[in-house]
Amino acid sequence: MRQERTRVAVVGAGPAGLVLAMLLAREGIDAVVVDHRTREEIEGTVRAGILEQGTVELLDACGAGARIGVDGARHDGIGLRVDGTTHRVDLRGHTGRSVWLYPQHEVLTDLLAWHRDHHTDLRLGVSGATVAETGADGAVVTFTGADGVPVELACEALAGCDGSRSVVRGAIPDRMRTDHFRALPFAWFGVLLDAPPSAKELVYASSERGFALISSRTPTVQRMYFQCDPAESTSDWSDARILDELQARVAGADGFALVEGPVLTRDVIPMRSYVCEPMRHRRVFLAGDAAHTVPPTGAKGLNLAVADVVLLAGALTDLLVHRRDEAVDRYAADAARRVWRTQQFSYHLTTTLHPEPGADPFDERRRRAAVEHLVTSQRAAAELAEGYVGWPLPGAGCSGTTR
Ligand code: PHB
Repeated sequence: MRQERTRVAVVGAGPAGLVLAMLLAREGIDAVVVDHRTREEIEGTVRAGILEQGTVELLDACGAGARIGVDGARHDGIGLRVDGTTHRVDLRGHTGRSVWLYPQHEVLTDLLAWHRDHHTDLRLGVSGATVAETGADGAVVTFTGADGVPVELACEALAGCDGSRSVVRGAIPDRMRTDHFRALPFAWFGVLLDAPPSAKELVYASSERGFALISSRTPTVQRMYFQCDPAESTSDWSDARILDELQARVAGADGFALVEGPVLTRDVIPMRSYVCEPMRHRRVFLAGDAAHTVPPTGAKGLNLAVADVVLLAGALTDLLVHRRDEAVDRYAADAARRVWRTQQFSYHLTTTLHPEPGADPFDERRRRAAVEHLVTSQRAAAELAEGYVGWPLPGAGCSGTTR
């Protein structure tokens, strides 16, 4: 075993881990980031791509956002398409803020480049990362490096940013932990389509056949989803059947139709809501998907991970630089407040736009009334817009940017 020491050990080189290590580096706090994936695997996992304005401002302020303005697209509105009629929600008009369409793997590519330029100690391609010890003053993580050498890494604080299958989460003893879990009774059938965009803004469609979402990845690759059964099998669906189903869910008297093209990939995405409480045990802190999952409607996952680590970086700076522990003591409660608010936003948007299979007619009529309210009340639209663009980040160093 090679014995090593750092101030903060970060397990997981996804958005939470890489943004945390970046914020810590800006405060002069050394961190070691470990991940079992290689750089190619991290950059190659294609995920949702909506960045809240606060996320963009933070990346900008740190010098990791330059490409968003070039390759990303600012979206000032979204379309809610209900039974074949599109109602635009003017995000910028309601809130003065926007979102950016910029895929997660591009964010990760930019963050990895930032860390390369700033000489962060990244250990990618490691195996068997385990929390060996947790104490009042620190923790110990063990893993085997990509070079095959076993390492025992002692740290003053350990950040579990290792995703929904988190290993670090296990360091919070069962008797102290509550796992809040809710499986939703539907899933998304997702496809990447080799085609130009069908609409200038994202379209969230609610029809009698169920929900559909028309999103985009690049000028030539589109991302689309339609609500399906969680047990749906992708092999039962030909390209033609997929395209017919998507077309049927957006069809309307205005003649709107999707631009078709070959289906490049297909997958079924389950929908669940999950929160682990508390997000801290001693000097172990959870952030991002390690602590929570939201259903994908509204694309909050990455943005919520960034909000967690903004708080965590501030708390760890107070602890490790100023030797004050109030902020780390408050971290779990402070983070949980935004987590639950975001859970509510994602859960509500999801259950409003998706008819529930086998729902009681009373509940289904209520749901439709909620959809109608959303597209006829300016106040309801404003509330949706506020949550969609994201609530302000806690005191992030992001003032003065002018997106
Ligand atoms: C996506 O592009 O994958 C996406 C966009 C918006 C959502 C969810 C997913 O609400």
